[in-house]
Amino acid sequence: MNFLKYGVAAAAMGVAIVGGGFVAPMMLAPRSHAADVNITNPQMIAHGRYVADLADCAACHTAPGGKPFAGGLAMATPIGTIYSPNITPDKTTGIGSYDYADFERAVRQGIGKDGSPLYPAMPYVSYSKLTDQDVRALYAYFMSAVKPVSQPNHASTIAWPMSMRWPLRFWNMLFGGSGPFVPPKGATPEVARGAYLVEAAGHCGACHTPHGSFFQEKALSNGPNGVYLSGSKFAGAYAPDLRNEDTGLAGWSQAEIVDFLKTGRTTRTAAFDGMGEVVEHSTQHLTAADASAIAAYLATLSPRPGHTASVAKLTDATTAKLLDNADRSPGALGYVATCAACHRLNGQGTPRIFPALAGNSVVTAADPSALIRLTLTGGAMPYVRSEKMDPSMPEFESRLDNGQLADILTFVRKSWGNTGAPVTAENVAAIRSKLAHEPDNYVPGGVD
Ligand code: HEC
Ligand code: HEC
Ligand code: HEC
Repeated sequence: MNFLKYGVAAAAMGVAIVGGGFVAPMMLAPRSHAADVNITNPQMIAHGRYVADLADCAACHTAPGGKPFAGGLAMATPIGTIYSPNITPDKTTGIGSYDYADFERAVRQGIGKDGSPLYPAMPYVSYSKLTDQDVRALYAYFMSAVKPVSQPNHASTIAWPMSMRWPLRFWNMLFGGSGPFVPPKGATPEVARGAYLVEAAGHCGACHTPHGSFFQEKALSNGPNGVYLSGSKFAGAYAPDLRNEDTGLAGWSQAEIVDFLKTGRTTRTAAFDGMGEVVEHSTQHLTAADASAIAAYLATLSPRPGHTASVAKLTDATTAKLLDNADRSPGALGYVATCAACHRLNGQGTPRIFPALAGNSVVTAADPSALIRLTLTGGAMPYVRSEKMDPSMPEFESRLDNGQLADILTFVRKSWGNTGAPVTAENVAAIRSKLAHEPDNYVPGGVD
């Protein structure tokens, strides 16, 4: 499930509009840097591999079934399909002829070797905060440890005039590079490290921060308005807020967040959709200290104005009724027949195997899109080396009609103490139709 990638890419469209208002394209000033990188130093290479894992370079630069980093992953945008390029050190088709300055400009400033700006589907906006040390190590890793693959890049299918790259320069000027990284005021060294990992390599905001009309992330670090990591919806999928508000992370311990990032599951929840991929390719490789640093940083984020950290104690009046066969509503009967084998009559699931639906932020989210989407598509827990198996959930797209699924989800949202508004057959129909029209590897552009 590679579909929803990141809430950026279609920037070109917005950019063309911005660009139209300017007179002529301009060059960005290159950032100063030291050019001498010892690409054979084993510590540098090992460190570079770690940064590449955290930055999830493989997620976009490796096509399904393709050679590592050889590119070719198709990413659909509303204006056409772009393909990720080959970033193996092959001299002719890859980045083998890039010197450190070329590499640094691409990764941190979003400028290709020929000087043309890159689409922000490449998350250089976050990577602009990477330290010189981390970018040098990345360069050493790519040049010395990644196998060169001869594979020419695909041209994009974006048609003229949208294919003109120069307007991207204006986007880049307005919304690009926000680096270098500045630690939050008064942060302990651990929290500062967590903030760095989240804002720079982790580019968590690409999915978890809402996007503006030009597809830009509305905030690139935490500020008083609380917009950063406050949740983002795209293409019917939803990356929830990470600000300890409402039914979200407020109820999680830091140990649970570490467990979730390292294994994609906790005793009561599981990663799915885009987050499953993030865990599989990226966060499972975090060192224990770095995973704790991220959890410590997330714990410092306070709810947005108007939101509270409510972790209500749940009172379960549902389980007894189901056990007595006393609830004969279509939602309850549908739940027992379709979901209870795994998620149990008490909505508690089985620790690390079937997530709990009681008190689950996905289930009770004000916007039920992610819940509907997951039950239609099904899913599997991410593959992580430390876990014995990856339990999966079947798809219900072909087995339940809109009304049946709406009844079940409405039941789930108001049972075991959950308080979520009803789901309608129209809600389900809307997501079903989005799924039917969604190309593989959709890069939605931050608007739903
Ligand atoms: C979310 C997807 C995504 C991630 C993650 C990502 N990239 Fe990219 N990258 C792209 C896309 C798409 C392009 C092509 C953009 C364009 O054509 O304008 C690109 C372009 C590049 C280029 C320019 C290549 C050229 O031919 O000029 C380099 C170098 C690069 N990426 C390196 C990296 C590295 C190193 C990482 C990890 C630190 C990384 N990318 C992570 C999507 C991604
Ligand atoms: C490719 C998009 C994407 C990126 C990048 C991403 N996430 Fe997520 N994240 C999601 C989606 C979608 C969900 C909802 C599905 C789920 O709960 O697994 C999610 C869920 C979560 C949750 C569970 C929240 C809850 O209330 O259940 C946590 C914690 C989290 N992400 C942390 C992070 C951190 C930390 C990073 C950066 C290292 C990150 N995410 C990067 C897409 C993303
Ligand atoms: C065969 C077992 C099975 C059945 C039947 C099943 N599920 Fe699941 N469910 C799972 C597994 C495994 C996951 C974790 C999936 C993942 O991580 O991608 C899951 C995840 C979920 C989640 C996300 C929870 C979280 O914290 O990530 C929800 C919500 C959910 N299921 C609801 C339902 C509903 C509603 C039904 C009935 C229509 C249902 N499930 C039927 C096994 C099942």
